[in-house]
Amino acid sequence: MIDILINSTEQAHADVIARIVEAGDSNHRVKTSSKGLADLCANREALDGVDLLIVNGGQIELHDFDALTGLTAQNADMTCMLLTPSPSADLLIRAMRAGVRDVQPWPVDSQQLQHAIEGISRKINGTRREGRVISFMSCKGGSGTSFLAANLGFAASAAGKLVLLIDLNHQFGEAAFLVSEVTPPATLADVSAQIDRLDPAFLDACLTHVSDGFDVLAGVPDPARTKEIRPEHLQRILNLVRHRYDLVIFDIGQSISNVSITVLDQSDFIFPVLQLSLPYLRGGRRLLEIFRSLGYRGDKVRVLVNRYQKKGPVGLPELEKALNLRVASVIPEDGASVSASINQGVPILRLDKSSGVAKSLSELVRSLSPQPENERSGILQKFFGKPALSRA
Ligand SMILES: Nc1ncnc2c1ncn2[C@@H]1O[C@H](COP(=O)(O)OP(=O)(O)O)[C@@H](O)[C@H]1O
Ligand SMILES: [Mg+2]
Repeated sequence: MIDILINSTEQAHADVIARIVEAGDSNHRVKTSSKGLADLCANREALDGVDLLIVNGGQIELHDFDALTGLTAQNADMTCMLLTPSPSADLLIRAMRAGVRDVQPWPVDSQQLQHAIEGISRKINGTRREGRVISFMSCKGGSGTSFLAANLGFAASAAGKLVLLIDLNHQFGEAAFLVSEVTPPATLADVSAQIDRLDPAFLDACLTHVSDGFDVLAGVPDPARTKEIRPEHLQRILNLVRHRYDLVIFDIGQSISNVSITVLDQSDFIFPVLQLSLPYLRGGRRLLEIFRSLGYRGDKVRVLVNRYQKKGPVGLPELEKALNLRVASVIPEDGASVSASINQGVPILRLDKSSGVAKSLSELVRSLSPQPENERSGILQKFFGKPALSRA
């Protein structure tokens, strides 16, 4: 499955091509546009997340090749296909110079076009990352959300995943410092302020590279700047990063806003983080109610109990009863290792691999991987539906 944008100044032609593409593989996400190439070039957003751009070049003119050159340069990962009636050698050379990778006849030969798209789709899917999106959310301040989000990111990268952590805290975002001593080159507010420049190279220059396979987009240090961040900025960032990383982790903090809801809507899993005491339990109930009203059901919400101690004021069974939900994961209390990790800005898995916290985080990473196909389609599951949440 890939994202395809069909561009033709004649909408009827774009619709014909879309029908042919969908008849070949209805799983592709197909959009059409009747903008001129120069307009498309000026409006970068239209190409966010597009894997294949099909340009109907029936009436392609010289200046269109300049626009095409700009488009393909800005979107280096996007494949561009041109449809044109009996192309001359000169046109073919211009097209190739402009970054077009495939030329097909117009009017379209349905089978030939479908065949070419399948070849491109196979190639793209071969280089695509898993693109799992998860969010950590605090039921109440101090629950350990930022610490767990940042350290889970490191643990997942140590397990071979390519991970991006995005710090969405509305106050004093500091997740980057929990796992790194490097001062971030830029923050989410800087990316939002220059959203029109967003492309892979710009984003890369804004990230803190914590270790091999672990990048962080730092949070906003000044709460006054959080209002610069809008839902559409997050949408554009997500479109760009989703298939470049195996795992994209959001540290959302406590705020429910139109920005955080954009992220929560698109998260595969949401981890509300709480501790075993009454104030957290109350906060947890409130948050779960909000999630229910937002329509997040089933396996999507995974309650995470942090700082677990056997002799806490509230037991796990009471918590599950009060929340009416199974606890998905438990992270033990470990004051010494956690404070050493935070004070040194070194991930706990690197500092103290054998600590209970590090082991539980590695377990949590394993629970995130998609289940093998044969487990998912087991006979029991066919009879009884989704498996119950298991405790990590
Ligand atoms: N498993 C744990 N064991 C001991 N202390 C912890 C644990 N997890 C977090 N903490 C402590 O809780 C504090 C708050 O964590 P933080 O991640 O900043 O919370 P939040 O982001 O939810 O406000 C940390 O500074 C750390 O000292
Ligand atoms: Mg925090």
